[in-house]
Amino acid sequence: MDKGTGYESPFLKLFMAHPSKITNLANASSIIFNALLAFPKYFGREDGRAVNWCGGTLSSYDMKAAADGGKLSGFYLDSALFPAPRIQTNTATTEASSRLLLGPFCGKPACQFIHTAPGKARGVCADAYLTRTTIVVPEVDLYPAHIACDGETKSEVVCPLVLEHDGATTVLGVLDLDCLAVGGFNDEDKVGLEKMAKLLVNSCDW
Ligand code: SME
Repeated sequence: MDKGTGYESPFLKLFMAHPSKITNLANASSIIFNALLAFPKYFGREDGRAVNWCGGTLSSYDMKAAADGGKLSGFYLDSALFPAPRIQTNTATTEASSRLLLGPFCGKPACQFIHTAPGKARGVCADAYLTRTTIVVPEVDLYPAHIACDGETKSEVVCPLVLEHDGATTVLGVLDLDCLAVGGFNDEDKVGLEKMAKLLVNSCDW
């Protein structure tokens, strides 16, 4: 099986039988991570070529934009999906605007949020989110303002999660993969991940 076929793997659809975004993002990160590790020709677990991080970040809920009735930097979440806590032990109750929050992933712990506001935005995830385009980074050390979560990462690909709904287009977050090798990802990965991102976005309620 080649990478293109792998990315179109029909079993992804099986895991998308429920519309919860958290459920589906969690399974998607595990499926992609483990499926790529099972491709020794391209990645594998040996020779420092492995994919070492896979996951997504989601746009945070923009309280100010919501209050203003203005434009969203991300998406509003149905309160039924994120109900108020039954036991509130933290004083921080509002989410800062214009940043991406860490979602389900496989790999070592990563930074919790990434700014996307003008003047603060930096890194591959913010760039992919803001430009709504997939970014393939052959060598992370050469990417301006790259954010190093796992110091072992050598290359990266970030694909935006874009929802088209009722004639509008909303970017929800990004799918991010890291690799231990320089040049781990190419156009084949870009095309495959974009297909998977579309399937994932269309499988969830937002
Ligand atoms: N490298 C990313 C940050 C996320 S970690 O790779 C998991 C960036 O530059 O945005």
